[in-house]
Amino acid sequence: MKKYILAVAGGGSTYTPGIIRSLMDRLEDLPLSEIRFYDIDGARQSKVVVAAKAVIAEYTDSILVTDTTDPQTAFENADFVFAQMRVGKYALRELDEKIPLSHNVVGQETCGPGGLAYGLRTIAPMIELIDYVEQYAKETAWIVNYSNPASIVAEGVRKLRPKARVLNICDMPVATMRNIAAILGVEREELVVDYFGLNHFGWFTRLEVDGIDRLAEVREHVYKHGLLTEDVSKIDYRHADSSWIKTFKNIKLIMDHFPEYLPNPYLQYYLFPDHIVETSNKDYTRANEVMDGREKTLFETVEKFEETGILEDSFAVGVHGTFIVDVTVSIAQNLGKRYVVMTENNGTIPNLPADAMIEVPAFITADGPKPEFVGDIPYFYKAMIEQQLASEKILVEAIIEGSYEKALQAFTLNKTLPSAKVAKAVLDDLIAANKDFWPTLNKEYTEGL
Ligand code: NAD
Ligand code: G6P
Ligand code: MN
Repeated sequence: MKKYILAVAGGGSTYTPGIIRSLMDRLEDLPLSEIRFYDIDGARQSKVVVAAKAVIAEYTDSILVTDTTDPQTAFENADFVFAQMRVGKYALRELDEKIPLSHNVVGQETCGPGGLAYGLRTIAPMIELIDYVEQYAKETAWIVNYSNPASIVAEGVRKLRPKARVLNICDMPVATMRNIAAILGVEREELVVDYFGLNHFGWFTRLEVDGIDRLAEVREHVYKHGLLTEDVSKIDYRHADSSWIKTFKNIKLIMDHFPEYLPNPYLQYYLFPDHIVETSNKDYTRANEVMDGREKTLFETVEKFEETGILEDSFAVGVHGTFIVDVTVSIAQNLGKRYVVMTENNGTIPNLPADAMIEVPAFITADGPKPEFVGDIPYFYKAMIEQQLASEKILVEAIIEGSYEKALQAFTLNKTLPSAKVAKAVLDDLIAANKDFWPTLNKEYTEGL
């Protein structure tokens, strides 16, 4: 069987060792000759690569590992690129969360103004990555992208590099399916779902096991317990953090109001922004929880490994690692397996714009995702989706044109922002915080007045 060269962009990510374990568990399906780690922060990446190498060594000594900050070294002749860049790292994530909260607005890394801010940082580096891959990698190479905010990244790529072979994915649908399966007492792989929406903005409409729709049963469970079982150890360790438990419990709040479908957990930010702000700690957000938890543990584990040769964390990353490997195997072997991913609408949901980057079940082939027909969606969902879509599309226009006015329109259209006045105040604070990362936003009509 052919052996592949895989590059990981954002090799210094906290997810890297876990993704490597998922890859090692699946070497029979995706044989690898080389793994190349690429990051702009070489020092951070080198520490993470220590852990990645230790995981690889548990399986094989025949994979060449390269740790580099040079794009040519990373991407030359590569078959696949996994992208997981966090532009601005946790320092800026913390500001994306805390600046909106200081205005009593949702502070979240991918939803609301924080997500828009992260989008303004990420489009240019993502396009740079695509151009490196185009220049150096194989013509058939695919970028499988986790880098957030995935919805805005998907729209930016669609607009600026429409022919690029980029598959944008998110682990939230599959993580939600993991919880559903635990509730139903079945394996996640037995569950077949229908789902529609945008990334971090969608609904499950059917939860089928052995040809029978179990949504009614799950709805009943959610009414009592949210989207959790008694035994939270059945969900991956990351989602066992208190903030994630709160999120899965909040699904009850959403379904108490809108019981028709099962929502993506991220809809809590758009439907209940007031509740989210009231229950947030403005001084200690998810970024702090991650820095004090996952990030700290990773670097301590590496330090101890270097001292003792013992790897104390197994880095079992769960659905996050499994999912990116699953879709990549489906591309590599042209399996056409059905997964929920981002793809261009083109009539899949006829009553949404053809050029929307939607999130739906699609068959994953060597030529990319082939979405399954969904059909028209009811007005409530269509209206919500179109408002969010407009916010994201206008944000991408703001980035391309360097337009302050469009950025303000994008912020104002975001459902988490209560008024144009608040949108402007949050945007202006975020501009100051992101001056090293954002494109310059010019005021077309009033600059210099
Ligand atoms: P992290 O900060 O630990 O790692 C990100 C790495 O990206 C850092 O080492 C950083 O130096 C690097 N980086 C930043 N800009 C870069 C650039 N221009 N080129 C190359 N590398 C660059 O972050 P993390 O929490 O491990 O998350 C990694 C990414 O995965 C984030 O974008 C996060 O939002 C995303 N993520 C997405 C999903 C999903 O569902 N789509 C799930 C989990 C994580
Ligand atoms: C989920 C989402 C991702 C997001 C991640 C954040 O998995 O699908 O898009 O990046 O959560 O998790 P964290 O543990 O970093 O808060
Ligand atoms: Mn996601």
